[in-house]
Amino acid sequence: MARLLITGGAGFIGSHTCVVLLEAGHELLVLDDFSNSSPVALDRVQELSGRSLQGIEGDVRDAAVLEQLFANAASAGAPIEAVIHFAGLKAVVESVVDPLHYWDVNVSGTRALLSAMETHGCRSLVFSSTSTVYGEPDSFPLTETTPTDPIHPYAQTKLAVEQMLSALASTGDWRVASLRYFNPVGAHPSGRIGEDPLGIPNNLFPFITQIAAGRLEKLRVFGDDYPTPDGTGIRDYLHVMDLAEAHAAAVDHLLQSDAPLSLTLNLGTGQGLSVLDVVHGFEAATGITIPYEVVERRPGDVPKLEACPKQAANVLGWSAKRSLADMCRDGWAWQSANPQGYREAP
Ligand code: UD1
Repeated sequence: MARLLITGGAGFIGSHTCVVLLEAGHELLVLDDFSNSSPVALDRVQELSGRSLQGIEGDVRDAAVLEQLFANAASAGAPIEAVIHFAGLKAVVESVVDPLHYWDVNVSGTRALLSAMETHGCRSLVFSSTSTVYGEPDSFPLTETTPTDPIHPYAQTKLAVEQMLSALASTGDWRVASLRYFNPVGAHPSGRIGEDPLGIPNNLFPFITQIAAGRLEKLRVFGDDYPTPDGTGIRDYLHVMDLAEAHAAAVDHLLQSDAPLSLTLNLGTGQGLSVLDVVHGFEAATGITIPYEVVERRPGDVPKLEACPKQAANVLGWSAKRSLADMCRDGWAWQSANPQGYREAP
C-alpha cells in the first residue's frame, strides 16, 4: 500500500479512481482547485470507501503549495511515493479560443508538479492523456504506435506533456505512464458520484442523461453522413469504473517496477459505438425515450476513434469489463439521484 498524491481527484475520473484506490488500501492526498469539480465529491468518495483522505484546495501550478505538500508528507514520516495527475483543462473549443491558458494549466502545471516531485525524490507518475492525440486517423484500430497528429491546442498540450514525461524517463530513475483515454462515461453504480459538467454539456453522454432528467429537451446528433454504418460518429466509450481500475493497476505497476519505465497505453474497450448506438442503448437500459434530431456536423469532430486495448492488457493485465448497458444504468443512477449534480447536495 502506498501514499499517493492525486491531483484533480475531485473531478469525474479522479473521484472514481479515488474510491478504487482507497478500497485497495492506499493512503490519499487529493489536490484540487475545484474550478470544475466539487468538494462534495470528496465527501462522497470517503462515504463510499469507508475511508478518509486528505483534501487540499490548491492549484497545481502553485510551486509553494506543491512544495509544502511534499515536505509535510515527508516530515510526517509518510513521503508521497507516486502521483496520479488528473488536474487539467479538457474543453477543445475553449483551448482554441485561449491556447495560452491551456499551455499554462496543462503544460506549466505538470512541469511545476514534476519539479516538486524531483526535489523530493518522488519519481513515479501516472498521467491523464487522451485519444484525441491521434487527430483524424484513417486506419484502425489505433495502437500506441499509430502516429499522433494533435489538431487543437488541447491535444497539443496533452502530447507535449507526454513528450516531457518520456524525456524525463530517458534520464533514468523515473517511472511514468501516459494513459490515453478514449470516451469515459457512466458512474459509480451507487449513483453517489458521477459526471457533473459546468453549464450545458459538450459531451454526448451527460447530454443524454440530462435529457432523461428533464434538464434538456432534445439531443442534436452532429451529422449522419459520416462514413460509418449508420452515418453517425463512432467512439470507444468505456465505463469510468473500468478506467478507475486501470489507474490503480498502472500505479501498482510503476511502484512494483525495479527499473525506470516509460509507458503509453490506450484505454478503451476496442468496441466502437455510434451516436445512435448510445442513444438506443440508453433507451433500452432505462426505458426512457431520448428525443433527437440530426443537425450539421460539429466542427473538429472525426468520424471514428476506436482503441486497440491489447497493450494495456499485456502490460497491466487490465481490460474493460463493463457493457454499454452498465454504463447507461450507472450513469442514469447518478443523474436521476442528483439531477443538478453536486449542486443540490446537502
Ligand atoms: C470530446 C473532445 C475530446 C475530449 C473529450 C473529453 C471534441 C472534438 N473532442 O471527445 O478531445 O477528450 O470530449 O471527454 O470536442 N455528439 C452529438 N451530439 C452532442 C454531443 C456529441 O451528436 O450533443 C456526438 C459527437 O459528434 C461524437 C460523439 O457524439 O461523434 C461523442 O462526442 P463527445 O462526447 O463530445 O466526445 P468526443 O468528441 O469524442
